[in-house]
Amino acid sequence: AIDSGVARVIITDWEKYKDQLEARLSVAREFTRQIIQRARFTPKKIVFPEGEYEKIIKAAAKIVEEGFGTPILLGDKDTILKIAEKANVNLDGIEIVCPGSSPNLDKYAQQLFKMRQRKGVTEVEAYRLLTKITNYYGALMILNGEADCLVTGYSRDYGNSVRPLLETIPFEKDYKTVSGSYFMIFKDRLLLCADTTVNLNPTAEQLAQIALQSADTVEKFDIKPKIAMLNFTNFGSVKCERVKVIQDAIKLVKAKRPDIIIDGDMQADTATYAPIAEEAFPFSEIKGDANILIFPNLESGNIAYKLLYRVGSGTAIGPILQGFKKSVHVLQRGSDVHEIVYLAAYAVVDASIKQNI
Ligand code: ACO
Repeated sequence: AIDSGVARVIITDWEKYKDQLEARLSVAREFTRQIIQRARFTPKKIVFPEGEYEKIIKAAAKIVEEGFGTPILLGDKDTILKIAEKANVNLDGIEIVCPGSSPNLDKYAQQLFKMRQRKGVTEVEAYRLLTKITNYYGALMILNGEADCLVTGYSRDYGNSVRPLLETIPFEKDYKTVSGSYFMIFKDRLLLCADTTVNLNPTAEQLAQIALQSADTVEKFDIKPKIAMLNFTNFGSVKCERVKVIQDAIKLVKAKRPDIIIDGDMQADTATYAPIAEEAFPFSEIKGDANILIFPNLESGNIAYKLLYRVGSGTAIGPILQGFKKSVHVLQRGSDVHEIVYLAAYAVVDASIKQNI
């Protein structure tokens, strides 16, 4: 009897959970479908510097099937062909480029040498970087218009994946930093969380740029930004340096974009739960309805999005790299095929917007 009671409770909970899960998944499916649909309107060349990995090859084939781009796999042709054959992947519509034997190698080496010669890179080192760390080769393809967007990061840690991009790709607008964000999708809302991947301990200027870049990201999807600058405090409830940094950042954002709704410092529930905002902080520009959450540092941003994803059952799309003039994005290491495909679709949309500016 006890067993069946337990089973009944589990089944009842599962039914409730299943409904919620279904609702969330339908919002998530709709949003990802929207991204892929938009990508199909403007297919692009997508370079994958880690072309010798099975999941990247499978993702490339899926991109061809979905019809939103021409994948370019960097790597040794024979190795890629062997992996594709073993995994039963059709390589039609996919280009393969081997950096070491590419006719562009000399040109790219000269360009990289010129770019980095006062940053310790010799001519010999430029060749080594291009052939051994293929993110450099991919970045040069982007700079030369041989590819429109780049998706990397599958096989290496985030810092080492993003560094070659920081060293070569210019920033958009007058940004001096870049940042990472995730769309977190729930059944009844969509949140963009930043910075979840790049800046360890952002200054007021960096926090302001992270907020502005996040506004750029949601505006690509015709979403009006409502930015909450998060902390453990509510509107100066504790006087400390980190609160001042946030308040200074808000002033900087307002000076640049007076049209944007931004407020803080505030706690995460003040930003997302209307009753708290209405009862205690009616003066706030955010009424519990923030759609962008800016975290005070990388620890809080990275921990929060992973908890929302794993325990809070949000669907995550990202990490999206914000602030670069070109569409270059770094995956979470070991991403699954569908995550690679979604980020590639976002990269195509991003490239098409950036090419039209
Ligand atoms: N914005 C813009 N440019 C930058 C930034 C930034 N935030 N950080 C470094 N740079 C530039 C530097 O100015 C330098 O340019 P230069 O060589 O032309 O002068 C270049 O990038 C390289 O600088 P380094 O000093 O080598 O880079 P640094 O050691 O500061 O590392 C990095 C930068 C890799 C982004 C570092 O801040 C980092 O490790 N961040 C955290 C990454 C991470 O682990 N994220 C969490 C996991 S990701 C996930 O969960 C999906």
